[in-house]
Amino acid sequence: MPRVSVRIELRREHSRHGPAEGPWIRRRWIARTLGPPDPASLACVVDHRGEVRGWGLYGPESELTVRLLTFGSEAPPEGWLEARLAAALRARAALGLERQGTSGVREVNSEGDGLPGLVIDRYGPVRVLQITTAAMAARQGAIVAWLKEHAPGDIFVIHPQSAAEREGFVPEPVIAAGIERLAFAEHGIDFEVPAPPSQKTGAYFDQRENRRRIAELAAGHGGPLLDLGTHVGGFAIHAAAAGVTAVGVDQSAPALALAAANAARNGVAERCAWVRADLFGELDDPQLAGPFGTIVVDPPKIASSPRDLGRALKALRACLARVIPRLADDGFLVICSCSHHLGREHLDQALTGASSALWTRLLALGPGADHPVLPGHVEGEYLRVNVYQRRA
Ligand SMILES: C[S@@+](CC[C@H](N)C(=O)[O-])C[C@H]1O[C@@H](n2cnc3c(N)ncnc32)[C@H](O)[C@@H]1O
Repeated sequence: MPRVSVRIELRREHSRHGPAEGPWIRRRWIARTLGPPDPASLACVVDHRGEVRGWGLYGPESELTVRLLTFGSEAPPEGWLEARLAAALRARAALGLERQGTSGVREVNSEGDGLPGLVIDRYGPVRVLQITTAAMAARQGAIVAWLKEHAPGDIFVIHPQSAAEREGFVPEPVIAAGIERLAFAEHGIDFEVPAPPSQKTGAYFDQRENRRRIAELAAGHGGPLLDLGTHVGGFAIHAAAAGVTAVGVDQSAPALALAAANAARNGVAERCAWVRADLFGELDDPQLAGPFGTIVVDPPKIASSPRDLGRALKALRACLARVIPRLADDGFLVICSCSHHLGREHLDQALTGASSALWTRLLALGPGADHPVLPGHVEGEYLRVNVYQRRA
């Protein structure tokens, strides 16, 4: 039996909590907590009659007080952490991404792999672990030790400051000495990103399959591609490798410098241009005048809570109103959201609010299979990519 030192009693109105309600137990749903505030302990969640509803990781200072590991009365077995790490890595190996020319992979996707609070992104032989909860921070030593034994390679461990403050833990970062860049391949295209500390773990692997798909569409159309929020050149370089000219826009100068280097690395520098600009601004650089065969709008997370939704929609609508006139008549408009609160229907709304033309949605895309989602965990479904075309 696992060590149990915390018993969490749910309020009567939340007593029926099960898989459909997801893996998070919020502080306001809890009637009583019995046990010390120790994030290393396992929490046993019971209903108002004392019946066990599940077992999970304990965040004494978190609004998400328990992140469930199991539903029902059965406790996670001894060694659950190591067993789930092994299962996640086996599942990634089974995807066969290496055979598709890909060495940048999300190996652990938090709740989606039954490991809430832990992300592991692999860049070739280097792993970047991102820890976002006190419970996972308490297990950092065990995770690193397991990786060293079973998945050799250099390791970084990062903890976003906002998560450490919210969850109440003291980060213990690990920096792999002497590594300043992380190199990886994606469908045969080579990229480098800065080693931590940088954006996220370094790259945005969640868009991998979409970058390839959109490059195919762009090549089919033939017109140039505009990549707003290009980071290190993702959509633009995939399109250029497919024979299309591309312009990438970002507000980060270091990201754009790497985008240019990545284009050169893949022999497509002459088909790419890079513009430093605010994608929510005027976009008045002459290189952005168009017309473009494909326009990708991939902004940062602009709605962290439902309260942000109105402002996010307004900003996205204004950006779309500015770029739609630069899209060729039969071109593709790709609108992305990496905010759980900004759903597909909101992307539709932003588009129809920005343009009274007749639009049709061709594709509704999401992340690749290395970003699994636990059914019931709606917050885990954060990436939506809608592809539209205008009709006469
Ligand atoms: C979600 S990431 C885009 C990922 C990228 N499309 C890819 O495929 O890897 C958002 C990007 O937008 C950039 N960004 C954030 N705010 C911006 C702004 N106001 N204007 C332009 N770029 C911005 C960030 O630097 C980041 O590279």
